[in-house]
Amino acid sequence: MNEKGTIKLKNIGKDDYKFLYQLLSERGKIANISHKEMPSYEEHIKFISSKPYATWKIIYYNNKKSGSVYLTKQNEIGIFIKKEFQEKKIGSKVLELIIEQNGPGRYLANISPNNKKSIQFFKNQKFRLIQHTYEFIKS
Ligand SMILES: CC(C)(COP(=O)(O)OP(=O)(O)OC[C@H]1O[C@@H](n2cnc3c(N)ncnc32)[C@H](O)[C@@H]1OP(=O)(O)O)[C@@H](O)C(=O)NCCC(=O)NCCS
Repeated sequence: MNEKGTIKLKNIGKDDYKFLYQLLSERGKIANISHKEMPSYEEHIKFISSKPYATWKIIYYNNKKSGSVYLTKQNEIGIFIKKEFQEKKIGSKVLELIIEQNGPGRYLANISPNNKKSIQFFKNQKFRLIQHTYEFIKS
């Protein structure tokens, strides 16, 4: 529960690279739909430096780094909370904050069908399913 917790969002900076790498390695294969394999630390830095998202913030819970949230130009949301901080309503609050800061419009969340927790989370936040996307990789 979040009665005692303070949540703050801060834009990512160089001193967050390690934290974001840790977070990425925690995500595991379930949540991970875009890259199946863990990038090297160098690749990770390159990715961040390419400024892939319109907004990318670190989530602080009681002044501790507890996750990250981003928005793409198409208002696709990515939200990742460290395991030890999950299920304290941080995700719900952060979703509310980021949408409030960004303003009215259409928001999307791309979630793997295996990721039951996130599906339930976004359903609770009044997101509705609009499509399933099928993938084929030719090698
Ligand atoms: C999905 C995620 C963002 C939710 O954040 P959170 O802070 O743990 O979630 P909250 O505490 O705000 O929970 C809100 C709702 O989510 C759902 N939920 C959260 N944890 C759940 C679990 N273990 N099982 C089922 N539903 C769960 C519930 O519906 C919950 O509502 P309730 O407490 O009224 O039952 C977080 O678990 C996470 O970072 N997961 C890994 C990364 C990921 O999959 N991100 C989504 C890709 S965009």
